[in-house]
Amino acid sequence: MKKNKMLNSDGYTLITGATSGIGYELSKVFAEEGFNILLQGRNEEKLIKVKEELLNLYNSDAEVTAIGSKAKKRKLSNNKEASKNDFINKEVIRNNNAKEKNIESSKIKVDYIVADLINDKDVNRIFEYVDNNKFIVDNFINNAGIGSYGYFHQVPIATDLELIEVNINAFTKMLKIFVPYMIKQGHGRILNVASTAAFTAGPKMSVYYASKAYVLSLSEALREELKENNIVVSTLCPGPTATAFQAKAKIKKSSTAKGAIVSADMVARFAFKEMMKGKSIIIPGFKNKALIKINSMMPRRLVHKVIHKTNQG
Ligand SMILES: NC(=O)c1ccc[n+]([C@@H]2O[C@H](COP(=O)([O-])OP(=O)(O)OC[C@H]3O[C@@H](n4cnc5c(N)ncnc54)[C@H](OP(=O)(O)O)[C@@H]3O)[C@@H](O)[C@H]2O)c1
Repeated sequence: MKKNKMLNSDGYTLITGATSGIGYELSKVFAEEGFNILLQGRNEEKLIKVKEELLNLYNSDAEVTAIGSKAKKRKLSNNKEASKNDFINKEVIRNNNAKEKNIESSKIKVDYIVADLINDKDVNRIFEYVDNNKFIVDNFINNAGIGSYGYFHQVPIATDLELIEVNINAFTKMLKIFVPYMIKQGHGRILNVASTAAFTAGPKMSVYYASKAYVLSLSEALREELKENNIVVSTLCPGPTATAFQAKAKIKKSSTAKGAIVSADMVARFAFKEMMKGKSIIIPGFKNKALIKINSMMPRRLVHKVIHKTNQG
C-alpha cells in the first residue's frame, strides 16, 4: 500500500454496504493493503462474519503481521509446522513489504456498526460511533445502493422511493456528515459508488439511472470544491458486476449485457488502485470505458434506444 502522506496510519476506512458485493470486496482489498476497517451494514450477523473473515485472512498472528498485498500469501504459510527458515523468510517479506510501503508494520483493526441508512437516527449513530471511539476516518466509501427494474409506471412507488432514500438521500446525508468531518481533520479520500448508468438515461431502470447521475454529478462538484481542503473525491462507475444486486432488484438484462459482467473482486481491486492515484472517475473494464466513450459520441436518443433494448431482458 502506498499510504499517502496525508493519510494517518491509524486511520480507518469506513465502507457502507460492506456485507456483500462490491462493498465486501472493497473491505477485503483495503484490509489486505493494511488499512483499519469500519464496516457498515444492516445485518449484524453478516457484519460479524465479514469482520472475522478479515481478521482471519489479514491478521492471523503476531509474527505474520498483516500489512500490504502480501498479507494473504503470508497467511497461507501460517501453520504450526512452519520451520525456522519459513519464519525467517516471512520476516524478510514482512520487513521488505513494510519498507516498500514506508510504514511501520502493525495489525489491522476491524470494527463494525449496524445501521439502516434509511433511518436518520442510524445515520447519525454512525458519526457518534466514530466520534465516541475517536476513530480517524481517512477513507470514506459511500457504496450502499439498491436497484429497481421495470417501466416507471409499473414499478411500485414504494420501491422507487426506497431507492431514492438509499441511493440519494442517505448517500447525501453521509456526505453531509463526513465532508465537514474531513475538512476539520484536514485530509481524506472519498469514494462514491455510482455506475456506468450515471452517464445516460436508462429506460426500464429510469429511477436507478437517474439516481446514479445524481451521485456522479454531486461527486464531481465536491471534488472541485474540496481540492483546497486536501480531500480527494473519486467516483467509481462499475458496469454490470456479479453481485446480489441484480437478483435483489429483479433486473433482467439482455445476453449482450450479461456477457459484460465482471467480478466484484476485479472492480474492488481496480477501484482501490485508481482511488489511491487520486483518479476522478473510475470505470473498471475496457468494454465499459469504450461503451461510455462511444455513447458520448452518439445522438442521445439513439443511446436511449440501445439502453432500452439492453434493459428489455
Ligand atoms: N452490481 C452491479 O451490477 C452494480 C453496477 C454498478 C454499480 N453498482 C453499485 O454498487 C453499489 C454496491 O452494490 P452491489 O452490486 O455490491 O450490491 P449488493 O451486493 O446488493 O450490496 C449492496 C450493499 O448495500 C447495503 N444496503 C442496501 N440497503 C441498505 C440500507 N438501507 N442501509 C444500509 N445498507 C444497505 C446492502 O446491505 P444488506 O445486505 O443489508 O442488504 C449491501 O451490503 C451500489 O451503490 C450499486 O448501485 C452495482
